[in-house]
Order: sequence, then C-alpha cells, then structure tokens
Amino acid sequence: MNSGTVHWTRKDLLGLRELSVEEINLVLETADAFKQVGTREVKKVPALQGKTLINLFIEPSTRTRTSFELAAKRLSADIVNISAAASSLTKGETLKDTARVLEANHADIIVLRHSSAGAPQFLASRIASSVINAGDGAHEHPTQGLLDLYTIREKKGTVAGLHVAIIGDILFSRVARSNIFALLKMGARVTLVGPSTLVPREFEQLGVAVSHNLEEVLPTVDVVNLLRIQHERQRKEYFPGLGEYIRLFGLTKARARLLRPDCLIMHPGPINRGVELDSELADGAQSVILDQVTNGLAVRMAVLYLCGGIATR
Ligand code: CP
Repeated sequence: MNSGTVHWTRKDLLGLRELSVEEINLVLETADAFKQVGTREVKKVPALQGKTLINLFIEPSTRTRTSFELAAKRLSADIVNISAAASSLTKGETLKDTARVLEANHADIIVLRHSSAGAPQFLASRIASSVINAGDGAHEHPTQGLLDLYTIREKKGTVAGLHVAIIGDILFSRVARSNIFALLKMGARVTLVGPSTLVPREFEQLGVAVSHNLEEVLPTVDVVNLLRIQHERQRKEYFPGLGEYIRLFGLTKARARLLRPDCLIMHPGPINRGVELDSELADGAQSVILDQVTNGLAVRMAVLYLCGGIATR
C-alpha cells in the first residue's frame, strides 16, 4: 500500500520523532483498510502468513500486548509471547543475547516493551529482524501515539488546527512524547498541563505551550488526553500527595463542565479512576477511551504489515 507516492522503507518502528507526515498518513490510511477488514465476517487476512512475531514484554502491559497479539493473528502470523519473568533475562542473559536467540529461531518481527529508553533502538541496529517499539522507558510509545492520532482524526475529521491538552505526568510519559511529535507534525496545537515539577517549561522547546492552570486551558481545547502518574518511574515525590494532585489537576465532574460539549476525553490507560479522571467521565458520552483500544488493533495491524513487509531476516 502507498499514500500517493510515499512508500514504506522502514524495517523498524522506533519512534514518531523520525517519521515524516507522509509516513504517518500512510500508517493511518493502511489502518483504515484494516479497520474495514475488522467489520467483515472473516476478519483474518494472509498478509503475514509464514512470518513469526515475538511479543517480548519486559514491563507489564494489558492493552499493547493483547493488541499486538490480536493484530498478528489477524494478519495470519505465528506469534509467541515472552514476559520478563518467563525469560532467561532473569538468569542474567543480556537483552542482545535474548534477541539473537529469537532471531536464530526465525523471528521476523520482535515487538519490544522495555523499561529502558533506547532498548528498541539498541536491538534494531544489531539484528535483522524488524523491531517495533511497544514503549521504552519514558522515551516513546509510537503505536499509542498513532492510535491516538487515528482516533482524533476519526472523531474530528482532521487533526490540523485542533487544540489538544495533554494533562498530567508529562516528564515520565512516553505516551506524551509520541503524541507531541505526531500532533505537531499533523498541524495540531498542543498545551501540556500539570504541576511544574512534572511539566517543566523546558518542554516549550518542542514547540508546545506549557500551563500549570487546568481551568484556564479546559474551555479552549478540542481534545483532552489525561495521563497517569508514572509512580514506577519516579524516584522522588513530585507533588505533596494525590489529594493535592486531584484538587489542582484531576478532571473532576465540576471541571468537565468547563469543556466544550464536543471535546473528546482520551486516556491511554491504565486509568487510575478518581485520580487523573473522574470514573463517570471515563465511561461518559465524551469519552473515546474504548475507541482508542479498538483503533489500536487496526493501527498495529498497519504497523506490522508495513514493517513486516520490509524485514529481510
Ligand atoms: N496504553 C498502554 O500502553 O497500556 P498497557 O500498559 O496496558 O499496554
């Protein structure tokens, strides 16, 4: 598949920072085709028949791991799931050696989630298998950024010209970084909102606005994307306590009244209900959180199809 004259030439998907607008559009258009396949009675296509995909998840995941597994199955690939606890990494084997063992077992595509930023890049430059970043530390989560973009485009018709607020723990968020790169490339305006410790002014250098006043921002936006506090990556206290965080930055029902009626409420999950987002709002009419999950399948099928077609193991 191609978008106009653009052809996919990447064996790996490591981040959205390096993708061109044309490449992003190609992924979204390919995902459109795969979403269509999902409405058929037979939802499987032979696009990756004979290829082997390994889901190597060295950090916990529900959405991303399941979504990649389903995507691979719908593309008729063979799939193996490996978690940190069940791998020889626990016996001291290096990530590179683990990956080379997988490569020697004819893995065409390795989907890697890892707590260290740069781990997918490290592997991609050392093995011939295609490497897809399923989230690396606080660096990037490219398929999450793409499915968020896809969902906004689906619900709003376009991304260009929209104002998107990303709220919460930006400092430790790979989802925030992938969203920022993708949204800016596609012509959206982005405002980051949260405590100054988690949303420092340095982010303005990326071309986004920074605010520490949620109530000021809410009436001006087309989309709010709420992020979880990434306690697992924080090595000190960045705010006095959860009560204080909710009081200043939680999307409560009272604060949601400041939103435009057509403003989308997004969250990559997992949600801490009642912290970053009121539970009723998470399930309410403005929420597209489950649409994000559904679209993740089509977007990941597109990514596997495009990168899997390039891999020359
Ligand atoms: N959004 C996301 O990456 O969720 P998981 O950690 O469940 O994969």
